[in-house]
Amino acid sequence: MPQPIVLDTINALRIWRNAERRAGKRVGLVPTMGALHQGHISLVNAVREEAESVVTSIFVNPIQFAPHEDFSKYPRAFERDLELLGEVDCDAVFAPSVSEMYPEGFATAINLVGPAAVGLEDKFRPTHFTGVATVVGKLLLQALPEVAVFGEKDFQQLAVIRRMVRDLDMGVEILGAPTLREADGLAMSSRNVYLSAQEREKAVVIHQTLLEAAEAAQAGMPLHAIEKEAEGTLSELGFVVDYVAIRDSVTLAEPVDGAKPGSLRILAAAKLGQTRLIDNIAVG
Ligand code: PAJ
Repeated sequence: MPQPIVLDTINALRIWRNAERRAGKRVGLVPTMGALHQGHISLVNAVREEAESVVTSIFVNPIQFAPHEDFSKYPRAFERDLELLGEVDCDAVFAPSVSEMYPEGFATAINLVGPAAVGLEDKFRPTHFTGVATVVGKLLLQALPEVAVFGEKDFQQLAVIRRMVRDLDMGVEILGAPTLREADGLAMSSRNVYLSAQEREKAVVIHQTLLEAAEAAQAGMPLHAIEKEAEGTLSELGFVVDYVAIRDSVTLAEPVDGAKPGSLRILAAAKLGQTRLIDNIAVG
């Protein structure tokens, strides 16, 4: 596979994208923060099904990290990322600097409610989704792709972006892609490198707990009781649990009484030592 072309300015991205469009190609965008793993690569392959030309963006977006979060130590592995993208069918990499994305005087943000204000990630990371929506809005306007892909791994993020794209008439198709997991079931994440060997072994319990919770929900056990039991299981094992929540899979609101199991999603966030892990699965 040829190496992807590296674009580091918005202007270079626009010129590239216009040439692809003139050549009759549909452009697909894969937004990432780099430190790529097979989950990211699966997104490249998924968007490739819908687009003849694929651009992956690599940008560790400062405005989606709170001051106490891991922006400065977030893993960065640009050369290895390029190698990985060279092994799949990726045409271009957009890797702008912080000052290219946020020039002096930058003063605009996207304000969100709906799925961005349901008491899940937003409760623990109150400025996070504004930062995500603002950068994704910028990337979509910069690349003007026909289609962009996001992972179900960050389920609330996917819901927020779908809503934003619809509300702001962004005219891009949003593709959701399933979560890739390690052999033991742990969801792949750039942050998994933070886990010690002992924590790594324990981390799989999140997925196992979600699977058990999904089974209980399908069996008709009361949802609040399932959430409490799952939180208890994780706490006993030494996780500091932010939430285990069963929600409507589109709005992420609390389910109405008698909601069909097939319309539900179970989402969890918990800290293991210094590492915050999130995961989610469908019920049914
Ligand atoms: P990042 O965490 O790098 O993730 C980039 C994309 O990969 C997201 O759409 C995420 O959901 C997806 N992804 C992560 N782990 C995955 C896995 N195990 N299986 C499948 N897909 C997975 O999410 C972000 O970056 C940022 O918030 C971003 C959208 C780029 C905005 O800055």
